[in-house]
Amino acid sequence: MKLIEAASYEKMSEKAAELVIEQIKRKANTVLGLATGGTPVGMYKCLTEDYQNKQTSYEQVNTVNLDEYVGLSKEDPNSYAYYMKEHLFKHINIPPGQTFFPSKEQGEQYEELIASLGGIDLQILGIGENGHIGFNEPGTSFHSKTGIVKLTDSTRMANARYFASIKEVPTHAVSMGIATIMQSKKIILLVSGKQKANILHRLFTEDVKEALPASILKTHPNVLVIADQDALSVLKEQEGSVFQ
Ligand code: GLP
Repeated sequence: MKLIEAASYEKMSEKAAELVIEQIKRKANTVLGLATGGTPVGMYKCLTEDYQNKQTSYEQVNTVNLDEYVGLSKEDPNSYAYYMKEHLFKHINIPPGQTFFPSKEQGEQYEELIASLGGIDLQILGIGENGHIGFNEPGTSFHSKTGIVKLTDSTRMANARYFASIKEVPTHAVSMGIATIMQSKKIILLVSGKQKANILHRLFTEDVKEALPASILKTHPNVLVIADQDALSVLKEQEGSVFQ
C-alpha cells in the first residue's frame, strides 16, 4: 500500500481525478469501479471539469459501482444510481448502457458481468469509520462475493445525514464482495476528514484481519491511499516515523 499525503481535500480530489484520467487515456475501454459517499464528490467534480475543458472521452468506458441500497429506486435521491447520475454521469459522455450497479435480483451475476467486461482496471474506494469497504462491514469474510449485506447501526447512523431520519436509512444493501474488490488490477483508496483519522491510523498500524475489512488491501500489489491532512492527523501524531 502506497500513501500519498494530500495538502487538502481539493488536492486529494485533483490527484485522484488525474489518475483516473491517465488511466482512461492509456486504455479507452477502461473498466472503472466507482464509489459513492461524501469523499469522492470532489474527484467527480474534477472529472466533470476536465470533461468540460478537455473532453476526455468516456465513450468506451464501463463503470461498475461498488454498492447500492436495497429498497430504493434509481430515481430516489438517496440511491447510489441517482448520486452517480448527479455527480458524474449526466456531465460526461458515458453511454447509459455502460454504467452498472449491483442489485438484489442479480446477486452473484454481478461477478460474471465484471468478468465479461474484462475485470476492473481501476477501483476507487472510500472507507467507513469502522473500516468497511463498499458495504462490507467488520467481520465479513475476505472471500465474500457480491451479495446482500446487513448494515450495522453505526453505518446507518453515519449515513443518516443524507436522509430525513435514521428510520429511512435502508437496513440492507447489495455490495461488491471483498474478494471481488481484491480482483481489481489497481485500487485507489480516498480518505478525508477528521472523522476518518482513527480508522486510517488503524489501517496502517493493525494486522490484516476480517474485523478490519480495509486491512486486506495491504495484501494487494497495487493500492494507492490518498489522504488529506485531517485524515492523516492521528497517524502523524502517533507514528510520525512513517513519514520520514
Ligand atoms: C458508505 C459507502 C462506502 C463509502 C463509505 C464512506 O457507507 N457504502 O462505499 O466509501 O461509506 O462514505 P463517506 O465518503 O461518505 O465517508
